[in-house]
Amino acid sequence: MNNISYKCFSSPCKIFGISETKKFSELFCFVDKYTSNYINNFFLKNKSICKLGRLTLLNNVPNIGFDSILLVGCGKKIELSKQEFIKIISNVINFLKLNKIQNSSWFLTELLVKKMNLYWKIRIAVDIIGDRIYNFNKFKNIQMNIFKIKKIIFYIFNKRYVKKAEIALKHSLSILKGKNVAKDLSNTPPNICTPLYLTEKAKLLAETYKSTISTTIFDGNQIKKLGMNAYFSVGKGSKNLSYMSVISYRKKIKLKEKLIVLIGKGVTFDSGGISIKPSKNMHEMKYDMSGAAVVYGTILAIAKLNLPLNIIGIMAGCENMPGGNSFRPGDILKTFSGKTVEILNTDAEGRLILCDILSYVEKFNPDIVIDIATLTGACVVALGNVASGIMSNNENLANDLIYAGKLTEDKIWQLPLYAEYKKLLHSSIADFSSSGGFQAGAISAGMFLSFFTEKYKWAHLDIAGTAWNSKKGSTGRPVSLLCQFLLNKSGYNY
Ligand code: BES
Ligand code: ZN
Ligand code: MN
Repeated sequence: MNNISYKCFSSPCKIFGISETKKFSELFCFVDKYTSNYINNFFLKNKSICKLGRLTLLNNVPNIGFDSILLVGCGKKIELSKQEFIKIISNVINFLKLNKIQNSSWFLTELLVKKMNLYWKIRIAVDIIGDRIYNFNKFKNIQMNIFKIKKIIFYIFNKRYVKKAEIALKHSLSILKGKNVAKDLSNTPPNICTPLYLTEKAKLLAETYKSTISTTIFDGNQIKKLGMNAYFSVGKGSKNLSYMSVISYRKKIKLKEKLIVLIGKGVTFDSGGISIKPSKNMHEMKYDMSGAAVVYGTILAIAKLNLPLNIIGIMAGCENMPGGNSFRPGDILKTFSGKTVEILNTDAEGRLILCDILSYVEKFNPDIVIDIATLTGACVVALGNVASGIMSNNENLANDLIYAGKLTEDKIWQLPLYAEYKKLLHSSIADFSSSGGFQAGAISAGMFLSFFTEKYKWAHLDIAGTAWNSKKGSTGRPVSLLCQFLLNKSGYNY
């Protein structure tokens, strides 16, 4: 106790949890004593302040050297559930924004959360705070006095945990940076964020992280020459040439180390092509490159963390437009693998881009390949904006990803790839058709991709429902999940 000095209270607004069990932390008791039991007396008169998530700002606490104390109700139980902790953190950050409190010290990581440790509490808190304070206004000329949070201090009372907290904070901030650059990229309008623009981002990564990252770019003509005819065909109708950016992150020293490949759908605008989409909400199809943005953000975070892994990230840039040069419904395309596909709907373009890259990456002899794509409206119907869909040819891989999703609250839910679904893609004149009918749309898309993934462990994340929010824009999902998966792969466990 005697290591607490008046000085450490010198910043404004301290935030404490308060619960009906009256199980205050040591520090809180100390502060209370300091205030001649002002807080405790206030609590005795106003017990409802303990209601879960309720916020009480005390401005006139005696004897303290800082502006105010914010009390956060933590309910009745000694241990909070994950959801309750998340609610508390969200309420606090919303309150600070609303009341324009720029500087605050949080004594909330000492709250007990069922089965979760300090590392998790810091990770999830930074994630929520980051989400709430993100904004994208670089295209606004008039910046209406936007309020900015300046400083948040997490107070760790027990010295033994400071190291752990520092690691958690380092991880959190790297991942948050990755998430934010993914959001920025996704939010950038399609007249600026073209396939070429994606290559500039990929090259920038290599320039920033010279010792670990290198980038190779393939333009539409090279994509065609390589034999990626399905990928090439999707971009044919656009004046913006397709570009594939291959970002290689190498940090494992040993040769023959296992390689992980991440492939992101990077359709910078999906008009539907000849099978054109209805105009209502068509502007949202600028987000159809969110998978590529997620790959970009994830690699950036991994490079910041310097994880001992070998990863190849591919941004599959392309624009799907109608025009005299577009591919058509009825076309039969020969894919990179040699398999032929009958096109029934040019709006099912994502799988055509991805299938060629899935075959192309065989040459890297990867252990694991994960594709991330805003692939189907059907996935939005199935899972809404809560969980991303996951389909996989390997249960262990699926479980590892689901586990990473649980830790980060970046939820995913598995859909089956039963052999019976193959018949949805039957074609009488080609090896298969590119799209199924009305039934099981997310699965038939996943099934289509699975035809090209025989050589490695593969998982497909359908993020059509989770990548963006109609009001708030890009969510940066699932950067957190992927970073967690990679942290786990690199042997970090907490
Ligand atoms: N990019 C869309 C999927 C999408 C739709 C994402 C809505 C987010 C919200 C994709 O390219 C697409 O158009 N898919 C079609 C497939 C169909 C033609 C088989 C769809 O879902 O309607
Ligand atoms: Zn699309
Ligand atoms: Mn489409």
